[in-house]
Parts: sequence; C-alpha cells; structure tokens
Amino acid sequence: MIGIFDSGVGGLSVFREIRKVLPEQSYVYYSDNAHCPYGEKGREYIIDRARAITRFLIDKGCEIIVVACNTATAAAISTLREEFPVKFIGMEPAIKPAAQSTRTGVVGVLATAGTLKATKYLDTREKWARNVRIAEHIGQGFVELVESGKVSGPEAEATVRTSLMPLLESGADTIVLGCTHYPFLIDTISKIADKEFPERKVKVIDPAPAVARHLLEVMRQEGIDETSPEGYRVELNSSGDPAGLVRTFDSLVRE
Ligand code: DGL
Repeated sequence: MIGIFDSGVGGLSVFREIRKVLPEQSYVYYSDNAHCPYGEKGREYIIDRARAITRFLIDKGCEIIVVACNTATAAAISTLREEFPVKFIGMEPAIKPAAQSTRTGVVGVLATAGTLKATKYLDTREKWARNVRIAEHIGQGFVELVESGKVSGPEAEATVRTSLMPLLESGADTIVLGCTHYPFLIDTISKIADKEFPERKVKVIDPAPAVARHLLEVMRQEGIDETSPEGYRVELNSSGDPAGLVRTFDSLVRE
C-alpha cells in the first residue's frame, strides 16, 4: 500500500501519474486541508504536520510514502527519513530538464514561498542552473484557486496572469511547476503564455511523471510488490472538510 500526502488536493496531480505506472496498487491519500496552505508556514510547523500524517499512513499499513508536496519535501523529508522506518519519495523541482531544454536561456519557476527559500531548492538550483538564468515567482493565490475547484475561467486567468507575466517578461520559455497544486492550472498557464508570447512556444513542466517513475524504481530496488493483494483501491482522507478533495478527485483525477 502506498501513502501519498499533501497540504490539500495538489498531491492528486502526482497520484494521477503514479496510478499510470502502478495501476494495481492500493493507495491512501491524505489531504491536510485543515492546515492548508503550507506555503507561508514555518518549517517546524510543517515538520510536525508531516510527522503526524506519516504516523497515520504507517498505521494504515503504507510501506512507502510519497510526500506529494514540494513545500513539505523541502521542509520535512530529511527529518522523516531519520525518524521513520519506511521509504519516502519527495518532489524535486524540475530545474535540470528545464535547464537542458530552454532555448532562450531563461527558466521560470513557480512555487510557494516555503519552497523558494528552502536549502533543498537552492541546492538544486545551484547544481543544475549554472548556465541559465532562473526567474522565480510565488504562484500567488494558485493554491486557493485549485482548492476551490476554480482551475479555469476569468478568475483563474486573472490570478495566474499576475504571477506568470513577470516570468514571461523576463524571457522564460520554460516554466517549472514547483508546487503540486499548479499542474491543475496547466491549461490556464499555457493559454496565457501562448496568447502573450505565441512565437515563443513556452513549455510548462510538471515534474509528476518523473516522480512516478522514480517511485517505481525505488519500489523495485526495495523489493516492494507492484501490485497489492486487494488490487487498485484509493482511500481519501482529510483533516478538514473532505468536499474539495472528493470534488477534485471526481472531476480532475477519476477516469
Ligand atoms: N502543494 C504544495 C506544494 O507542492 C503546497 C501548497 C501549499 O499548501 O501552500 O508546495
């Protein structure tokens, strides 16, 4: 059984990719929506939440846990690895593939405040982005949009535009989505980029498929079964009102 958690529904963008590579696993998803967003919270607060959720997932029988949240990965994954006897898979901002594929030499990163100031992110940037320029912006209001199910339409476009335009104006042709909520806005992001800079053919990178492949590799290395005895099953849990979680699952994830 695989445990997946996030501050809210964002981790479902990772779950939908994981399910493609592990279609016969069973999953426990935990949305910490009573404490969402994590983006502006302190490191210790996020570590405490990550510990509590990890205990819950281990009690459910999860053998491996996906921290499907960039902010929680940056703040807590090293502590979780020290304190718990299960394997953890975290989120990695896709700076490496972006740096390799940019044509303008400018990569735009959208993420939360917590991710952008974390050592883990700064180290990744230092390692892979030596020869390109990185433009960063907090996706201001993106998490709230996704949590409330407004992933397209005038309100979503206006909110996305405010954070995206500075990146496009600084020349970015590749946008890295450094928060798991943001892939649910990918159509809105691409629509704005294509409208404003049609000749640039802006590419938007969702790191979730790479994380799903990495999970599969680690499971093989660890000898964890790719199928679960009860077959495909998803249990949705949340610390607050589950309505948004169920709605996102039904409208954006269920096939
Ligand atoms: N989905 C999360 C991330 O990947 C956290 C968003 C938030 O709660 O601020 O960073």
